[in-house]
Amino acid sequence: MEPLSRRRVIGAAAAAGALLPVTAAAPRGKGTAKHHPFLWGVATAAHQIEGNNVNSDYWLLENVAGTGFPEPSGDACNSWERWPEDVALVRGLGLNAYRFSVEWARIEPEPGVFSNAVLDHYRRMCAACREAGISPVVTYHHFTSPRWIAARGGWENPETADRFARYCERVTHAIGDFVDWGCTINEPNAQVTSYVVANGKPFAREAQIRAEAARATGSDRFHAFFQGDSLKVRDVTLIAHRRGVEAIKGVAPHMKVGITLALQDLSAGPGGEALYRRIFDESRAPYYALADRDDFIGMQTYNRMATGPSGYLPTSPTATNDAWGRDADAEAIAGVAHEITHHCRAPILITENGVTATDDRLRMAYLDRVFPVVRRLRREGLPLLGYIHWSLLDNFEWGSGYKPRFGLYAVDRTSFRRTAKPSVALYRSLVAQARIHDRHIERNTRT
Ligand code: BGC
Repeated sequence: MEPLSRRRVIGAAAAAGALLPVTAAAPRGKGTAKHHPFLWGVATAAHQIEGNNVNSDYWLLENVAGTGFPEPSGDACNSWERWPEDVALVRGLGLNAYRFSVEWARIEPEPGVFSNAVLDHYRRMCAACREAGISPVVTYHHFTSPRWIAARGGWENPETADRFARYCERVTHAIGDFVDWGCTINEPNAQVTSYVVANGKPFAREAQIRAEAARATGSDRFHAFFQGDSLKVRDVTLIAHRRGVEAIKGVAPHMKVGITLALQDLSAGPGGEALYRRIFDESRAPYYALADRDDFIGMQTYNRMATGPSGYLPTSPTATNDAWGRDADAEAIAGVAHEITHHCRAPILITENGVTATDDRLRMAYLDRVFPVVRRLRREGLPLLGYIHWSLLDNFEWGSGYKPRFGLYAVDRTSFRRTAKPSVALYRSLVAQARIHDRHIERNTRT
């Protein structure tokens, strides 16, 4: 189906709700009576900022002979020690939400062996956020897993779903009383998309690295999150999410729990209808159906893409490009938000959106464009719960190492000193204006 026509239909329906209040819709599900203010935040992920995540599958892949990584994560931003400074930066930005992840590889370094010290570390982090007026939005799995999970077939192995649920339960016992928002698994659909676009063979070139990692762990296979058979991984993550939600809510019924998805604003270009349909059917539809009965769906959108007969079409040279040459038009979030609304009843939390830019002026221009889009979507009555910018810090960008710059703050790779880029002041002032507006609307809605 051609996506633009769907969008037009939804646009008309949304316009009919133009007078709806702009405060966040109360999420559905248990315990929804509590009012949640619109969330304005920034996001990070454990492996990308904490440093020395030595028990994780990715650490091994970054350091194994013949690694495909240009550089290892190493000390990252040393946020394992500097997290109080990071929380202070979030507070200084005037935000009311901080999305970060807890690290399974640290929490359960061996099967069934849980570290109380690490759980306590994250508990203190969540408590410090609350103390600072910040709502922690906690991701339970952001790409990295303990090595022992990868050495047992990773997310291809159906047993991983139950292991994940057990881990979710333990984590929630430790942090649940400080946390209202939980994300189970980050972007499990991304690998399905790559798999479909590459006609089922995206990871063949990594066989050698996987074999090295298997040797290093003394196992006969090693599958990190993005290395498994994507369709099997999809089936396991669909189950793991559901079990994770049950485990989390079993301990903390007040928590709003959702899954976060990688969602480019995708459309079918000339001759690209069949590929577009396959991507939608394989990597979006199953997750939209899964999220349909959740408290929220996490939307992660950075760019716009069009499919051609055998892959993505090249980005137009006139598009607003990021440092990776992607079409980073801020309107992409409107396209995706409308798509979600059409296919899934869960309210939307924008859990990631941002731009990679060496020149910070590009980020500032992006922020200036994105805020009016968010405002418009809320005015149109789309069920938006919040906007969380990626990222607080320049950090370890997976297969691209430290070269891409997504951060509002630069981080010195030796001293770990954080330095505000000009976009910090801009984001702070845009959020401050938006929050004044939110409070005004809230007062009017209550009286
Ligand atoms: C991921 C992040 C990543 C960001 C920017 C998202 O897909 O969740 O871990 O750093 O995109 O590429």
